[in-house]
Amino acid sequence: MAPREGSTLKPILEINEVSKRFAGLLANDSVSFSVADGECVGLIGPNGAGKTTLFNCVAGYYTPTSGTVVFEGTDITGWRPNAVCYGGLARTFQIVKAIRNMTVLENVMVGAFCRTSSVDEARKIGLRVLEECELDEKKDVVVSALTIADLKRLEIARAWATKPRMLLLDEAMAGLTSTETKQAVSLVRRIKGTGVALLMVEHVMEALIPLVDRIVVLDQGRKIADDQPEVVLSDEQVISAYLGGEVDAGN
Ligand SMILES: Nc1ncnc2c1ncn2[C@@H]1O[C@H](COP(=O)(O)OP(=O)(O)OP(=O)(O)O)[C@@H](O)[C@H]1O
Ligand SMILES: [Mg+2]
Repeated sequence: MAPREGSTLKPILEINEVSKRFAGLLANDSVSFSVADGECVGLIGPNGAGKTTLFNCVAGYYTPTSGTVVFEGTDITGWRPNAVCYGGLARTFQIVKAIRNMTVLENVMVGAFCRTSSVDEARKIGLRVLEECELDEKKDVVVSALTIADLKRLEIARAWATKPRMLLLDEAMAGLTSTETKQAVSLVRRIKGTGVALLMVEHVMEALIPLVDRIVVLDQGRKIADDQPEVVLSDEQVISAYLGGEVDAGN
């Protein structure tokens, strides 16, 4: 399938021929695509396709073996994760990272300290973000007492509190019931409505499709498709590599 011509909007993120090798395994194999300012792009592919590895290369957790990552025109390849986040590119983790013995508000304040050194200001930002994420009623709950759905929502809230211009979401809806998935979709839609660019890894197709402008597909580390959702979902190579197999129904 021919790659879709790039959007006329200027790219906020450019991934240029990024490869990541772990010993004998090429987890990302010369992956290139870009995300336009304000665009929401889905990143899909089978387990082990290299989606999280690519997030790690973009967000500074791994240095790519080769290739470059450009954010808002600046080459950020090899920047440390905190520098990438200060630069305006935040991410969530597939395995949630909230600090378990702290409260919901304290966790979100950790994100807010990316933009302020004032505790009062961080609390204000934290409370506003918790309201936006509909977690304000749980602000004083200790993280270890949260449900999966709340942990996933908190993961988004922590990243959102850093005031990013682009957000990478790694399976933010995995393990949710269909009602919880709908709530998470409306949260991501609200975030998208603020003009933030999004790149989201998601196996739950009914959550992904209503949100994304475009879908990129990885298989065995390589990009095999990059187009509008309806084109990607009917692509034979994508169906045989991914959609024909088991897809998480989200329950
Ligand atoms: N730190 C690492 N060291 C060695 N191999 C790794 C490392 N991280 C990932 N891999 C391997 O790279 C490949 C891609 O893994 P990755 O986690 O990026 O896949 P994924 O597409 O996110 O899969 P999933 O849908 O299951 O989350 C896998 O074979 C994985 O075992
Ligand atoms: Mg993953």
